[in-house]
Amino acid sequence: MYSNKIQYIGCDDATLDLFESQYPLPCGMCYNSYLLHGERVAVMDSVDPRKTTEWLQQIENGLKNGTTPTYLIVQHMEPDHSGSIGAFLAQYPDTTVVGSRAALQFIEQFGYQPAHTLMVKHGDTLDLGGLTLHFIAAPMVHWPEVMMTYVPEEKMLFSADAFGSFGVCGSYTDHWIDEARRYYINICGKYGTQVSAALAKTEALDIQTIAPLHGCVLEGEQAAEAHRLYGIWSQYEIERKGVLVAYASIHGNTAKVAKRIAEILRTKSMEVKEIDLCRTDVSEAVAQAFCYGKMVLCASSYDAGVFPPMHVFLYKLGIKGYQSRRVALVENGTWAPSAGKTMRGMLEAMKDIQIVEPMLTIRSAWKEEYQEQLDALIDSILEGINYE
Ligand SMILES: Cc1cc2nc3c(=O)[nH]c(=O)nc-3n(C[C@H](O)[C@H](O)[C@H](O)COP(=O)(O)O)c2cc1C
Ligand SMILES: [Fe+2]
Ligand SMILES: [Fe+2]
Repeated sequence: MYSNKIQYIGCDDATLDLFESQYPLPCGMCYNSYLLHGERVAVMDSVDPRKTTEWLQQIENGLKNGTTPTYLIVQHMEPDHSGSIGAFLAQYPDTTVVGSRAALQFIEQFGYQPAHTLMVKHGDTLDLGGLTLHFIAAPMVHWPEVMMTYVPEEKMLFSADAFGSFGVCGSYTDHWIDEARRYYINICGKYGTQVSAALAKTEALDIQTIAPLHGCVLEGEQAAEAHRLYGIWSQYEIERKGVLVAYASIHGNTAKVAKRIAEILRTKSMEVKEIDLCRTDVSEAVAQAFCYGKMVLCASSYDAGVFPPMHVFLYKLGIKGYQSRRVALVENGTWAPSAGKTMRGMLEAMKDIQIVEPMLTIRSAWKEEYQEQLDALIDSILEGINYE
């Protein structure tokens, strides 16, 4: 219970291999759901079909004296939240399903047939008796139908996918930020403008608790810190001063150059994050790229292009809206270096990327004769004071 009226009925999922079939889950995942005990009971979102039975049991345990839910609030129709609607309606057929126009349309598309629906739009309220739900449209805070819900009596914002995190629903720890960043940048990163617009709608609200659909519930200082970070992330601002050195090396020679760059940057008192793109999940690499204002990319050439782990990284940066950053390039090739040209082309397609010139080309392996060029490249990446 978060209060005597708001009860957590979400489910941990410790065995899912990949979230959305692509994101690794070192700490598992959870699908959050809540029971709102007004004079009438509302259930806030359902859960992934992997957890239907457990969730229905939690609802049954939470309902008092044979009451049944009057409303099922559908903030988001993605199956990790909507996948148990069918089973829920089979058990509670008289429940009214509440959602935006698009949510109600998607309910039909996914094949659910609620007997009672209530369409709500931004600014509408629903009185549960002792608890009031204020609906806030949050289109494209992942999907177009999304809405958030503010409950003034509890100073609580039900934020849908926003403010979520990977991981089971444990208590808040210092690790929250890393998995929340990886979650936000990869899941919502492309929709910064829409996330900003949704945040602006919550600006005037007195929020004590943020209850997202994934990860832990954020209270007090944690909620304020999450709000501050979402301001940075949604505007593509720089979160940490420093440089990301990301490399993709087939036989290790390019990796050695990347490590040399990282070492030199550290002697200049820079915070440096090194990522081996062949051995780090791309979702983490993308999140770290957004975190820093500067990046050095080092890659082997490969079949007249760039070694695939770097290609995939740049592709993902592009689709997630990576922008307004300063980037230096190091390519390695043995007979016809091509990595640089491919990396440059992919970066040029992104918004406001400043490429540091000149790019450094290594032929097969490091030699001392490259040192002068390397020093120039490092000085040049450090010059960009607008990217700190
Ligand atoms: C499958 C494959 C394709 C390659 N394609 C190219 C290429 O198109 N142009 C080139 O100059 N080198 C190419 N290379 C050589 C790599 O770029 C070479 O491994 C690199 O110069 C050395 O750096 P590394 O030790 O970091 O891999 C290729 C290597 C492999 C294994
Ligand atoms: Fe979602
Ligand atoms: Fe979700």
